[in-house]
Amino acid sequence: MSSEPEPAVELRSAAVSRGGRTIWEHGDFAIPRGALVVVIGPNGSGKTTMLNVVLGLLPVSSGSVQVLGSEPRRGDPRIGYVPQNYTATVGNAVRARDLVALGLAGDRWGLGRLTADERERVEATIEAVGATGFADRRMSTLSGGQQQRIAIAQALVSQPELLLLDEPLANLDMRNQNEVVELLDRIRSESDMTVVVVAHDLNPLLSVLTGAVYLLDGHPHYDEIGEVVDEHLLTHLYGTRIRVVHTAQGDMFTRSGR
Ligand SMILES: Nc1ncnc2c1ncn2[C@@H]1O[C@H](COP(=O)(O)OP(=O)(O)OP(=O)(O)O)[C@@H](O)[C@H]1O
Ligand SMILES: [Mg+2]
Repeated sequence: MSSEPEPAVELRSAAVSRGGRTIWEHGDFAIPRGALVVVIGPNGSGKTTMLNVVLGLLPVSSGSVQVLGSEPRRGDPRIGYVPQNYTATVGNAVRARDLVALGLAGDRWGLGRLTADERERVEATIEAVGATGFADRRMSTLSGGQQQRIAIAQALVSQPELLLLDEPLANLDMRNQNEVVELLDRIRSESDMTVVVVAHDLNPLLSVLTGAVYLLDGHPHYDEIGEVVDEHLLTHLYGTRIRVVHTAQGDMFTRSGR
């Protein structure tokens, strides 16, 4: 038997439909373990739908999906998830630390219901995301960047093998975007976790990404990041002119231009 681990996510001829309409089809790719991958595509192209399939919340209508070597299943403890607009939907009065604890406790609301080991894990995770200084505060009193760290801590606290984040950089200023990106990069390099992040702006992520899933004309594809940061591909994908600029340091930037 090969010791090579199964891919983190593998689609074979996969298609998905919602409300009787095909959202995407002919999905045939594998995301290797330990990758840091962005999911890109225009609004409505099915990025959140892709995460829902991996989470086992939505079945494929044809083909197959494997996640960490098995069929997707709802509530898989090996997967951590930060939903789109998550921080806007949590109760404002909730204390940040309790929200992180929820990632371990599920229905057992509140830190009091956790074992000593679990409480220790909550504290370690809060420290790992740089939230120690504000973990006692209520979510409503935190900045968007601070709230996003707490959301990530909640998804991380159960030590998942695969972390899915749906637009975690939305509504963050550039400094907070960079801090969240550095956090994701550190998490991945320290733990071998696979990280999949939906984003509209590639720029803050470019230096840390290893690959990209892109939803082009109703078909999901996966490739290494160097292949995806391509003017023709990105221009076609977004339907607006995108430029790729290589600097002396080798950095690449994408932006709309004429
Ligand atoms: N619950 C649902 N029932 C039926 N159709 C849905 C449902 N949720 C989403 N859709 C449709 O599925 C398609 C893909 O939606 P999805 O949310 O995956 O897109 P997205 O790429 O994440 O978009 P965005 O960038 O706006 O977040 C859209 O056409 C949307 O209208
Ligand atoms: Mg979405």
